[in-house]
Amino acid sequence: MVRVIAFVVGLVFAGVLLISLVTGVATYVSNKPAPLAAEEFHLKPKSLHLASDGAFGKFDPAQLQRGLQVYTEVCSACHSLKLVSFRDLKALGYNDAEIKAYAGSGKEWKIQVPSINPETGEATTRKALPSDNFPSPFPNEIAARAANNNALPPDLSLITKSREGGGAYVYSLLTGFQPQPAELLKKFPDAKTPPNLHYNPYFANLNIAMPPPLTTTGQVTYADGTPATVDQMAKDVAAFLVWTANPELERRHSAGLAVSVFLLVATILGFLAYKQIWYEVKHPVGDTGSNQTKIRRTTAKRGVAG
Ligand code: HEC
Repeated sequence: MVRVIAFVVGLVFAGVLLISLVTGVATYVSNKPAPLAAEEFHLKPKSLHLASDGAFGKFDPAQLQRGLQVYTEVCSACHSLKLVSFRDLKALGYNDAEIKAYAGSGKEWKIQVPSINPETGEATTRKALPSDNFPSPFPNEIAARAANNNALPPDLSLITKSREGGGAYVYSLLTGFQPQPAELLKKFPDAKTPPNLHYNPYFANLNIAMPPPLTTTGQVTYADGTPATVDQMAKDVAAFLVWTANPELERRHSAGLAVSVFLLVATILGFLAYKQIWYEVKHPVGDTGSNQTKIRRTTAKRGVAG
């Protein structure tokens, strides 16, 4: 009797589950979630080839210097680079005097560093030293948002590691500003880019708060004479931001190569040693007996008791 009741209860339970599954599927089919403009119009980053790509890639110091120039003259008005210090720029081929001049002349680097007046103890600012990290353009997040329609320009030190596509994403974003396609507005009349935002299909939700920072050829004047097209400036600053996020990349690549060569040699030596040690066991001279006798004989030959 108890068994029958338990069976009936189980049956009812399974029946209720089945009904809820069927109604769930039916509502999904009859009332599909509306497609989003961002799902249809978002683009994957364009392809970007940099000298630092691949297992043996090395940075192109001339390109990194141009990227630094674009960052200094354009991006640093809004974006910080907190994890990079001025003396790190040695890796770009600058010498100590050049770095000192860059950090502290007030010419290239205009933002000063917070400090304390040693005489009065009052808060003040001073010119940056090579040992300082790049100072932020805004004192804190509140000030940064206040100056950017409540959007926060992220720190760029690790941006190429924190976004899918890395350098290619930054390059695509900088060259991807465009008018909103008419097709999008026809399909999604409610998805019009709001005021103060800018349409960019490479940005996750298509509308970014950053105004296009690179707009005209010659916006910066490269010292090495490279024509400063928008495409070139975007590539250079993307390469520079790949460096800020992976300054150890070249060292990692050459260490990886050395370790691979070492492991290859060690494997060959190990294999040869294995062949040598087992040679007599595998090729006993003039023996026709069982394996056991072979082994006994070889060990005996080597003077091992057995
Ligand atoms: C006028 C200020 C301003 C300038 C100049 C500027 N940006 Fe931005 N940037 C912003 C703001 C604001 C955001 C945040 C956008 C958002 O969240 O919608 C942003 C976001 C970004 C992002 C992150 C996008 C993401 O996926 O979250 C990157 C990368 C970026 N900027 C790169 C640059 C580079 C490189 C330059 C220089 C060539 C530059 N920006 C110049 C204001 C600026």
